[in-house]
Amino acid sequence: MLSVEKVNTYYGYSHILHDVSLEVKEGEIVVLLGRNGVGKTTTMKTIMGVQPPKSGKVLFFGEDIAGLPPYRIARKGISLIPEDRRVIPNLTVYENLKLGSLVQGKVKDLDDRLQNVFGYFPRLKERLGQEGGKLSGGEQQMLTIARGLMAKPKLMLIDEPSEGLAPKIVQEIMEIIQKLQRDGVTILLVEQHAEMAMRLSDNLRAYVIEKGEVRMSGTLEELNCRIDEVVHCLGAKI
Ligand SMILES: Nc1ncnc2c1ncn2[C@@H]1O[C@H](COP(=O)(O)OP(=O)(O)OP(=O)(O)O)[C@@H](O)[C@H]1O
Ligand SMILES: [Mg+2]
Repeated sequence: MLSVEKVNTYYGYSHILHDVSLEVKEGEIVVLLGRNGVGKTTTMKTIMGVQPPKSGKVLFFGEDIAGLPPYRIARKGISLIPEDRRVIPNLTVYENLKLGSLVQGKVKDLDDRLQNVFGYFPRLKERLGQEGGKLSGGEQQMLTIARGLMAKPKLMLIDEPSEGLAPKIVQEIMEIIQKLQRDGVTILLVEQHAEMAMRLSDNLRAYVIEKGEVRMSGTLEELNCRIDEVVHCLGAKI
C-alpha cells in the first residue's frame, strides 16, 4: 500500500531523514519507534506532504505522491493525526468533525460518516454541541482521531496518541486503534509506549529509527532477537 523509498528530508539546511525506507501493507499496523527527536514525526510529515522530501519516493498504491500538496495526498486516502492534536477550540465537536470530511470536498454522506465515527467514539456523540477547547485531553485526542476518520482514510498516520494521557484513556485509545485495524483501516503509528504498541496485533511490524535513519525493522519476535540493539536505540525494552 505504502512504500517509502530512500527519502531525504530537510528543515532548511538541517538534514533530518537519511535514506529512510519503510513499507506498510494493506491491513497492517506498523509502529515507528525511536527516542525523542530522531525523526518519527518528520517521517509522517514527509508521507503526508507537509514536509516533502528532497529526494526519494513515497509510493501509495504504486503512485509517487512525494511533492504533492497535503490536501491532494489526503484525498488519495491518507489521514495524519498530528501529535499536537489540533482541535479547533472555539468550534463545536460537530463542526470539528465536519471539517475532517471537507478534505474530500462537500460530501453527501456526512451523516453516515458521523454514525461510523460514533461507533468508535460514543462519547463524542454526547458532546456534539460542546466547544472543542472545553473537552478533556483524552476527549480532544479522541476528537482528533475521529476527525481524521471522517475523511474515510485507507491509511491513518497516528502520531503519539497517548502522549500526556491517563493510563485508562491510553488503553481506550489502543482498543480503538485495534478496532480500526479489524475494520480494515491500515495504520502507521508512532508510540512512546513501545511495549504496549508492540502488542497491538499479532502480526505487527516495527521500524526502529535512530538519528534519522532506520536502524532495524521486524516483528516483535525478530526484534527481540536483537534486544540489545533495541534497548540501545530506545533506552527501553519492547
Ligand atoms: N520545524 C522544524 N524546523 C527545524 N527543525 C525541526 C523542525 N521540526 C523538527 N525539527 C528537528 O528535526 C529533528 C526530528 O524531529 P521530529 O519531530 O521528527 O522527531 P520525533 O522523533 O518526532 O521526536 P519526538 O519523539 O520528540 O516527537 C529534531 O532534531 C528536531 O529538532
Ligand atoms: Mg514527534
